[in-house]
Amino acid sequence: MTLLTVENLEAGYETGQVLFGVDLVVEESELVSLLGRNGAGKTTTLRSVAGAAEPTVLGGEITFGSEQLAGVAPYSIAQRGLSFVPEARRCFPRLTVRENIRLAINHASDPKDLETVLDFFPELSEMREKQARNMSGGEQQMLAIARALAANPQLMLLDEPFEGLAPYIVRRIEDIIAEINDQQGIAVLLVEQNVAAAVAVADRHYILDEGRIVESVSTTQLRENEEMRQRYLGV
Ligand SMILES: Nc1ncnc2c1ncn2[C@@H]1O[C@H](COP(=O)(O)OP(=O)(O)O)[C@@H](O)[C@H]1O
Ligand SMILES: [Mg+2]
Repeated sequence: MTLLTVENLEAGYETGQVLFGVDLVVEESELVSLLGRNGAGKTTTLRSVAGAAEPTVLGGEITFGSEQLAGVAPYSIAQRGLSFVPEARRCFPRLTVRENIRLAINHASDPKDLETVLDFFPELSEMREKQARNMSGGEQQMLAIARALAANPQLMLLDEPFEGLAPYIVRRIEDIIAEINDQQGIAVLLVEQNVAAAVAVADRHYILDEGRIVESVSTTQLRENEEMRQRYLGV
């Protein structure tokens, strides 16, 4: 069954339009990536779906399950089962791991319990009384994903989860994302510039260029088509 449908999405900022008709679909339990160069409009696409205050959606339709998301408040979108992990990994710096997850649980309509979430992240379980601000970038990314998981979503949106992380922690986060998808059946839409990491976890890929989806390909097609990678992704 189709979980998320984005049709002809147009969006932008005061400074101008950025998305010119984005079309994409995420099926139930699928792991899909949205790739594209810096400035292509990846974050703008995710923020439009999550209902963020910016950008302004100018046209098109966003359907989640059987509901239209346009005009729905972000907290209400989250309560319907869509969790968004923004680029900045927003955790509360002065709160501990446990308190950060607890807050996410308190805001969700049908959350997982704290121990279930911590069982999934042994590293976090061991540092449950540590403040987020004293954790490494990779640990904070794990905590941001743990907070999203705590809401027990049907779909998780991840904006560049590997950005700025050391290779070993990239591999650990790849495994976490794969497990969330496989074991929990949660669909994932992953935005990335790191093509190698996206190829390692996702089964299907959209390529966004200048605010339009220009390709929809399998991992094999993306691996084999160097010309396509060069043209749109520069790798
Ligand atoms: N808050 C904003 N205000 C104005 N322009 C923005 C804002 N955020 C992004 N943009 C512009 O929108 C375009 C797409 O940005 P973005 O969606 O962040 O791309 P990506 O995530 O693919 O790197 C860029 O030209 C960027 O400068
Ligand atoms: Mg971005």
